[in-house]
Amino acid sequence: MGDELSSADHLPIVETRRWASEGDTAAFACALAAVIRAEPALGEIFIALHGDLGAGKTTLTRHLLRALGVTGRIKSPTYTVVEPHQGAGGLTIHHFDFYRFNDPREWDDAGLRDLFAGPGLKLAEWPDNAAGRIPIADLAIKMEAMNDESRSVTIQAASARGQKLLAAASA
Ligand SMILES: Nc1ncnc2c1ncn2[C@@H]1O[C@H](COP(=O)(O)OP(=O)(O)OP(=O)(O)O)[C@@H](O)[C@H]1O
Ligand SMILES: [Mg+2]
Repeated sequence: MGDELSSADHLPIVETRRWASEGDTAAFACALAAVIRAEPALGEIFIALHGDLGAGKTTLTRHLLRALGVTGRIKSPTYTVVEPHQGAGGLTIHHFDFYRFNDPREWDDAGLRDLFAGPGLKLAEWPDNAAGRIPIADLAIKMEAMNDESRSVTIQAASARGQKLLAAASA
């Protein structure tokens, strides 16, 4: 019976939401950032961002990074695969975009494996293009554009840390 309980503890939590505007996307990003700033251990996390071209993955990331204290330009890593940032309090952040990732050797050669094994916050757009290499996400966020600025969003928290961050950001 104890076993059943502990496995239930680790079932992923899946939530669906509707963000009516970019303001709602920004509000969610700010809520995540507030939790991470209050409890830096929750910033040691991998967030996978799913969704079609223009769904809002980079936009969500920009709002999150700003709220984490990143200053300066936040470039989309579409061409570079990864962009490094530093947040307030020295938080290391790596923003990945695997849209153009098609050479698996790059995983080791460009040090991507080391970045995922290293400390800090990792965010990845188009994670499925690195399937089999990229670790399982603590939080997986899927954004789907509806009309205009509205987004249908599915959030899956697959680890204890992801669940804690999501619960605290939603409180
Ligand atoms: N609710 C919303 N959330 C996020 N972005 C929105 C929203 N409403 C409108 N937008 C706009 O949609 C666009 C999303 O573009 P963005 O570059 O973030 O998409 P993406 O998912 O990163 O695409 P790609 O796969 O090409 O990298 C931006 O111009 C943003 O201002
Ligand atoms: Mg993008």
